[in-house]
Amino acid sequence: MNSRGTTSVTAAPLLDLHPAPADMRQLVIDGLSRNPKQLPAWFLYDAEGSRLFDLICQQPEYTLTATETALLEREAPAIAAALGPGTLVEFGAGSARKVAPLLQTLAQPAYVALDISAEHLEAACARLQGQFPAVPILGVCCDYSQLEALPEHPLLSGTAHLGFFPGSSLGNFEPAAARNLLAQFRRLLGPGGKLLIGIDQPKAVERLEAAYDDVAGVSAAFALNLLRRLNRDLAGNFDLEAFTYRASWKPEHSHIEMALVSQRPQQVELAGRVWAFEAGEALITETSAKYSPEAFLDLAGSAGWQGAERWSDPAGDLSLHLLVQAD
Ligand code: AVI
Repeated sequence: MNSRGTTSVTAAPLLDLHPAPADMRQLVIDGLSRNPKQLPAWFLYDAEGSRLFDLICQQPEYTLTATETALLEREAPAIAAALGPGTLVEFGAGSARKVAPLLQTLAQPAYVALDISAEHLEAACARLQGQFPAVPILGVCCDYSQLEALPEHPLLSGTAHLGFFPGSSLGNFEPAAARNLLAQFRRLLGPGGKLLIGIDQPKAVERLEAAYDDVAGVSAAFALNLLRRLNRDLAGNFDLEAFTYRASWKPEHSHIEMALVSQRPQQVELAGRVWAFEAGEALITETSAKYSPEAFLDLAGSAGWQGAERWSDPAGDLSLHLLVQAD
């Protein structure tokens, strides 16, 4: 307690590994040279994109966030018991809003948040440290998909760590990239490490398409913001009025495909080149795969993980899988 009667909290430390900025121009050229045209999903997340994504999570049609949060709250004691001791390492922590029930329930919690955005990370860790003054917390600014090893730090001194990857973010990676990412997590967490991962499941097509094309138009605004970002960052001249948003379930890939569809034949300047779009041609902004528990465990198995436990909501919309290392 200080003299004003308030408890002072030490700010959580931040380790900045200075992740190299990706070569956005080259990635755009590669993506627009593909047929169909497709850009990496992370381009959607500039400051405005991140704000719009937070808004998507509050739309009534997009139930994933609320379902997972409720599941974590309800099952925290069982999850904490199954996780056992170790430092919790969250990949792509963002605003780190889902970890609280675990920090509340783990016997001796310690938390490391990894995220590419130093600003986001600092704010999230400060908020959590205020909420959990006694829990050791560390923020690490890095691109977790490119990380060779976790940094040396007392919180990470043991060999086996507890990974946390909620939000079904794995679904935004294509299958081969998703497998590589799971294998990367396995290396980072060390022998004996465990991974708690949230995976959205296939459900009625109408529900899925509505979740990614809400009535309020936030999902559409989120996708169109990509064109605004490209215009700003790569000297583009996309006419936002000339594209419409579409979200469609592709059963052959078990994913939702999100795309901006050109309303007329047009030419767009971007990244120092001219790109032709036919009328009706799609620019895929993102895909979001949905895995049944069996399909997900097959994928995880191919990356050296084995399912240990699974928790699901009453409707069976989403699962939290606890994975352990297969050997
Ligand atoms: C971040 N990710 C898991 C979201 C999803 O559900 O695929 C991204 C998203 N894009 C539009 N709506 C949600």
